[in-house]
Amino acid sequence: MKLLFIGDIVGQPGRNAVKTLLPKLREQHNLDFVIANGENSAGGSGITPKTAEEIFSAGVDVITSGDHLWDQKEVMELLANEKRFLRPLNYPPGTPGQGSAIFEVRSQKSEVRSPILVAVLDVQGRAFMQPPLDNPFLAVRAEVERLRKQTKIIFVDIHAEATSEKIALARMLDGQVSAVVGTHTHVQTADEQIFPGGTAYLTDAGFTGPHESILGREIEPVIKCFLTGMPQRFEVAKNNVLLHGAMIEIDDASGKALKIQRVSENLI
Ligand SMILES: [Fe+2]
Ligand SMILES: [Fe+2]
Repeated sequence: MKLLFIGDIVGQPGRNAVKTLLPKLREQHNLDFVIANGENSAGGSGITPKTAEEIFSAGVDVITSGDHLWDQKEVMELLANEKRFLRPLNYPPGTPGQGSAIFEVRSQKSEVRSPILVAVLDVQGRAFMQPPLDNPFLAVRAEVERLRKQTKIIFVDIHAEATSEKIALARMLDGQVSAVVGTHTHVQTADEQIFPGGTAYLTDAGFTGPHESILGREIEPVIKCFLTGMPQRFEVAKNNVLLHGAMIEIDDASGKALKIQRVSENLI
């Protein structure tokens, strides 16, 4: 099966990129399943049922999130009711929502008639991240063990700042999951690879939104903030809108990755 992961969707420009480009990508690459990180989809901070619906209608099957989870209070509705929305797994027990879920997918290529089960897991790192969550390594290890009883096709979004933490988590999972792709830094890395055990890896997928910016925000206020130390309003920027992500081909039977390819598509 072929899966596309889309890096952090930032504001309306990011949502527009998904709406315009995803239907074309789905067709062009025969995509079976699409996952997107939506933590910045509402005005650059957080997510609401309305922005989530826009993203789902564009052809995204599952939305993951991260440290901007709580920025919009309407997220509570998504956490309570939306099975296709994931929050980081390693929140304390009792936190609303879920950190992983299993979905039924009908592969375009597969001759098997029964649906393929795909597990998606969202987890947040701890180095330079707020709020401090439970140990992601312990949480993921236990969750993957649980998920593997139902399917070998498992995708992990590691939402973290530190490259070492992301690589270490992915190396720990090599052979246990199909792919580990990072989010949060909004900068796409060029280290896509398949580890010896068959797990595809990319440290960061990048972000989907305006790239004539500082990580999706207008340039001047961010520079002013660094210069003066005074808080500024960081509006979402407008220009050079790109869809960033990674495309992964997975062997249906073994769950091992066959190919990983970075994606950077221009919205013209
Ligand atoms: Fe983040
Ligand atoms: Fe983000």
